[in-house]
Amino acid sequence: MPPLTASSASSLARACTRQTLALPRTLAVTTSAQQLRAKSSSETAQTSSFDSPFGRSKESPSTLKIPNFGKYASPRNATSNKVFSYFVAGSMGLITAVGAKATVQDFLVNMSASADVLAQAKVEIGLNSIPEGKNVIIKWRGKPVFIRHRTASEIAEAENTNWEGLRDPQPDSDRVKKPEWLVMLGVCTHLGCVPIGESGDFGGWFCPCHGSHYDISGRIRKGPAPLNLEVPQYDFPTEDTLVIG
Ligand code: FES
Repeated sequence: MPPLTASSASSLARACTRQTLALPRTLAVTTSAQQLRAKSSSETAQTSSFDSPFGRSKESPSTLKIPNFGKYASPRNATSNKVFSYFVAGSMGLITAVGAKATVQDFLVNMSASADVLAQAKVEIGLNSIPEGKNVIIKWRGKPVFIRHRTASEIAEAENTNWEGLRDPQPDSDRVKKPEWLVMLGVCTHLGCVPIGESGDFGGWFCPCHGSHYDISGRIRKGPAPLNLEVPQYDFPTEDTLVIG
């Protein structure tokens, strides 16, 4: 061990003195903090309505002051609060359902067919105004419809035709509901022209576009058209009324 000089002995003495003085100061600070914690804990116990699960023990006293929210609590009892909550929730649900129903209903009504379109869906014709042996052309859904009041000779001719050998074989009874009334779409089955009535080689209709001839039952007899004139859906609600559509 080296010999102790005067200066090193002095430094050693100063360090020992500093450590001796620091110990009481640390003890003083610790004691003061514990006192503050204890004071805060006692104040919290006096002012707070909340019993905190943390702290409040001798080992670790709480340093938090939990506020009292008592003044925000509802003065009514729990049942009254539930009834009010259910009433508000139910009212909002009812208002939302009514609004949704009105929105969907308006949307569907807007998407449905308008009055003028519905009016064209069916057409009613008074048959008393059509004399025997005459044609009438009406417009239905943008297409011409031929209505022919056939005579007895025309009915006999239509029924006595050998229909099995025709291009589009069909008996006259399949094309009419009443033999005296022939109802057909006035659209040529070749390329869509409107045939001319009471003309052609078979006394029915003739399409001048490419020369198709239809007989008095609207069946194709000659020319390029492949099919008979189409029969639309129709009915006779009364004896002298025809409804197409
Ligand atoms: S469109 Fe009628 S014959 Fe061609």
